[in-house]
Amino acid sequence: MSVAKKDYKRITVKSLIEMKQNHQKISMLTAYDYTMAKIVDEAGVDVILVGDSASNVMAGHETTLPITLDQMIYHASSVVRAIDRALVVVDLPFGSYQSDPKEALRSAIRIMKESGGHAVKMEGGREVKESIKRILNAGIPVMGHLGLTPQSIYKFGTYTVRAKEEQEAQQLKDDAVMLEKAGCFGIVLEKIPAKLAKEVAESVSIPVIGIGAGVGVDGQVLVLHDMLGMTHEFNPRFLRRYMNLYEEMTNAIGQYVTDVKSEDFPNDKEQY
Ligand code: KIV
Repeated sequence: MSVAKKDYKRITVKSLIEMKQNHQKISMLTAYDYTMAKIVDEAGVDVILVGDSASNVMAGHETTLPITLDQMIYHASSVVRAIDRALVVVDLPFGSYQSDPKEALRSAIRIMKESGGHAVKMEGGREVKESIKRILNAGIPVMGHLGLTPQSIYKFGTYTVRAKEEQEAQQLKDDAVMLEKAGCFGIVLEKIPAKLAKEVAESVSIPVIGIGAGVGVDGQVLVLHDMLGMTHEFNPRFLRRYMNLYEEMTNAIGQYVTDVKSEDFPNDKEQY
């Protein structure tokens, strides 16, 4: 059932922080195009993430690394045209912010100016602190992303749960506090133990949004195509599928093919 948009004001970074203070959970989903973003916004999702997962979902790459800044801007501007209520957060893609803070700022400005997105998200902790500060100084809201950070997949080697060992867990906790101090308005925690994620959420006053991080955080995010069951190769434990659109769409399209071949489509009423 959709949430009536007229009952709500537009979501801002400030409203997300208020939602945390009021113990209201935050819903976040990805979207990469106009049509899907319109549905996601209409259904009442608070935050739409134009994730660099577009690299996998939309372009069929194995990792998120190949997607470019221009491609992210294309996806984000399509999403922005669709929404009335949700906050649109856009991923800074791999290679657009890692080399130095000036480059990071230039990339963030391009996203804000050319797509109309409302905030950027970037992966990493202390190693991107100076870039985060520079982007924030320009008035651009920044969301952090810790835990499993897919842009570093070749460093990790696998997509398994992160921060299971004490040293990495402590580093993640320190990074979360640093992100809050630097001025981030929120943090995504990906694929870490639920107990650790809860501790992190309780240790900062900004919203912590989890993906594979348990229920003790301030909100949840999933990749839209995964939760709708449009993809079926990816089956992590944290993923709840709300539909099996892969099967439904395949059946519908198969029926169309049958109807065309048998001349059942178009019928008398479907022509001029
Ligand atoms: O790109 C993405 O979809 C993400 C989510 C997995 C949080 O970063």
